[in-house]
Amino acid sequence: MTIPKKVRLVEVGPRDGLQNEKQPISVADKVRLVDDLSAAGLGYIEVGSFVSPKWVPQMAGSAEVFAQIQRQAGVVYGALTPNMKGFEAAVEAGVREVAVFAAASEAFSQKNINCSISESLARFVPIMDAARAHGISVRGYVSCVLGCPYEGAVAPERVASVAGELFAMGCYEVSLGDTIGTGTAGATRRLFELAAAQVPRDKLGGHFHDTYGQALANVYASLQEGISVFDSSVAGLGGCPYAKGATGNVASEDVLYLLEGLGIHTGIDMDRLIDAGQRICEVLGKANGSRVARARLASR
Ligand code: HMG
Ligand code: MG
Repeated sequence: MTIPKKVRLVEVGPRDGLQNEKQPISVADKVRLVDDLSAAGLGYIEVGSFVSPKWVPQMAGSAEVFAQIQRQAGVVYGALTPNMKGFEAAVEAGVREVAVFAAASEAFSQKNINCSISESLARFVPIMDAARAHGISVRGYVSCVLGCPYEGAVAPERVASVAGELFAMGCYEVSLGDTIGTGTAGATRRLFELAAAQVPRDKLGGHFHDTYGQALANVYASLQEGISVFDSSVAGLGGCPYAKGATGNVASEDVLYLLEGLGIHTGIDMDRLIDAGQRICEVLGKANGSRVARARLASR
């Protein structure tokens, strides 16, 4: 299979990147991050989540963030919505694209959203109906696609089946999440091969956390499987509150560098992306998790 000529990056830094941060982050800093990412040329930015503030306190200010960002034409600003309450809050905040999130592991589903996989899928049906009525697009996520922090190995057939259900109910794209970053290139290729039987390859995305340092290799393995959408996080920020020890997503800068080396152009400005990541790292008092950003910053 040839590598796709066009690739879309879904920037999840403001949501996946910040959701696990324990220190308070001001709305102004979140807004600045989103605006910096818009200016860098990202076409899709996941801005926040409309989830229970008891479960994920850091995302509590998402409506205010949406109210203050400078929306650029052609940029999609998305949000996670686990249930109708979250969907309604998102609509109220002017969100035009949402994402629902399921898991391929029962234990993770319970820990993350307090219900079984089938209950979660049933919960998404009225969201899909309401979204259709509002003209809102819905993206789907499956977590724990290459391993679960509670159950260990996860059968790729289960992942493919959950992805297929999300696609069948109307998600225009399904992103497969290696929540704990244990996946390898071989397992990634097998996973997409199986998932492609349920969801067309051009409707599948890859979402790799970098806990074991395999994320970039897994992105490349996915490209070899014809996958052309990747979620990434500026400066490699992030982690899931319900996956202990899991580190951030693959860094957007590193994926961009990989793509540029393959002659795949995205229109994203590397220097501006690096500046966006470095700025939020300074706010958080954290080292930059992107190898490319560190190298470029050191040589500036
Ligand atoms: P629950 O406790 O079962 O909810 O939580 P409930 O319906 O029983 O309601 C309990 C209380 O929560 C009520 O308030 C509700 O109003 C409130 P109370 O009466 O007690 O004051 N509530 C809400 N408040 C705000 N927004 C809402 C909402 N819904 C209920 N939407 C629930 C179920 C799904 C709400 C909860 O488990 C939750 O919020 N979970 C979110 C977890 C999360 O955000 N995890 C991280 C994102 S997923 C991820 O990172 C993985 C991904 O990156 C891919 C990958 O890496 O694998 C996407
Ligand atoms: Mg994630």
